[in-house]
Amino acid sequence: MRIVIINGPNLNLIGTRSPEIYGTTTLDELEALCHGWGVEAECVIETYQSNHEGDIIDRLHAARGADGVIINPGAFTHYSYAIRDAIDAIGLPTVEVHISNVRDREPWRRVSVVSDVCVSTIFGRGIPGYRDAIRHLTARAAWPVETIAYGPDSDNVGDLRIPRGESPHPVAVLLHGGHWRDTAARDLLDPAAVDLTRRGWATWNIEFARVGSGGGFRSTTADVAQAIGSLSDFAEGHELDLSNVVVIGHGSGGHLALLAAVGKSEVPISAIVALAPIGDLEAAHEAGVGDGAVEAFMRRTPEQSQERHVAASPIMNLPLGVPLLIVHGDEDERVPVSISRSFAGRAADEGDTVVYHELEGVGHEALTDPTMPAWVKVIDEVDRLR
Ligand code: DQA
Repeated sequence: MRIVIINGPNLNLIGTRSPEIYGTTTLDELEALCHGWGVEAECVIETYQSNHEGDIIDRLHAARGADGVIINPGAFTHYSYAIRDAIDAIGLPTVEVHISNVRDREPWRRVSVVSDVCVSTIFGRGIPGYRDAIRHLTARAAWPVETIAYGPDSDNVGDLRIPRGESPHPVAVLLHGGHWRDTAARDLLDPAAVDLTRRGWATWNIEFARVGSGGGFRSTTADVAQAIGSLSDFAEGHELDLSNVVVIGHGSGGHLALLAAVGKSEVPISAIVALAPIGDLEAAHEAGVGDGAVEAFMRRTPEQSQERHVAASPIMNLPLGVPLLIVHGDEDERVPVSISRSFAGRAADEGDTVVYHELEGVGHEALTDPTMPAWVKVIDEVDRLR
C-alpha cells in the first residue's frame, strides 16, 4: 500500500511556529515519524510539503496510482476550492489532518472546504493525528467499509463492515472513547472493527455528536440510540442477525454503551461489553477524569439539578437488565480501575449478570488494540457472547 502525505503552507515552520499550538516537533521529525508509522502499518509513505497552492494541486494529481492521501492543507483548508476539487478529481481515499483543534480556535478555522471530499477529518490530536490517519487508510484497505448515514447531522454516520462466511451475521456496535470530545472519532476503533469483522462479526462503528460539535448527555445518547435502532433499516439487505446485537464501548464509549441498555432501544441489545468504562460519572468527576470531561459532557453548572446527573450515570441506573462484560486494566491511566471494580460489584448485587475481568499490567488503550495481548482476552470473551 502506498500513501502520499501532503503538508501545506507554513507547516515547514512547525517546531518553532506557535509551539503552544503546534508543539515542538519539526517537519523533518514529523515526516520521519510518518515513515516509521508506515513501516509498522506495512505501507510505503511518500511525504511532500509546499507553500504554494498550484504545487499542492500538482502533487495531488501525481498521487494518482497511490492507495490513499493524507493532507494537511494548512490555511488553504478554509478557502481553497481548487485543492478541494483536486482531491475530488483524483478519487483517492483522502484523510484531512490538522495538528491543532481547529474547532476550538478562531471561528474561520471551523470552516473546511475540503472535508466533504475526504473520508475522514482528524484534528486536535497533535502529531499522532498523522499516525491515526495512516491507520484509518490501512483499515479501509484491509476490509471494505460502507459508510451509512443514520440521521441528518454530519456526525450521524457509521461504518458498516460485513464478514465473510455464514449469515445471518451477529452484530457488534462499536462506541469509541475520547472523553466524549470531538477530537476523538470512530477511526480510533478501526483496528478493532477490522479484527472483529475478520472473526465473523458484522461491525457498525458509529459516530455521534460529541462535546465541541453539538454533543452532550442528551444529544449524544439520542444519537447512539438512533444509530442502534437504524440497524433494522439495513439488516435485511446485509443479512444481519438482530437477535444477536452486542454493544461494545471503550472509556466514555463504555459509558454510552452501558446507558444504551437504559433507554428503550428499537433493536434489542443482547449484551454490553464495556471496556474501561466510565460507569460512574460522580466518581469520574471526583477523580478528575479527562480534565473536566464530565462537566463538559453534562454541560453542568452548579445550579443544575442532581436529577439530570443521576439519569446520565450508569451506576445510578442499575440493574441494567442486559448481560454485562466489563474489562478494565489495573494500570489504566485514563479511567481509574476502581470505578469498574465497584460498578461490577454493585451491578451483580442489583441482579445483573456480570462478567468482570481486571487485567494485570494493562493500560487504557491496549483494550482495543488488536496487536496487544489484552485484546485477545477481550475478543475471547466477546466471541462467547454470540
Ligand atoms: C492547521 C490549522 C490551520 O487553521 C492553520 O492555518 C495551519 C495548520 C493545523 O494543522 O492545525 O496552518 O492545518
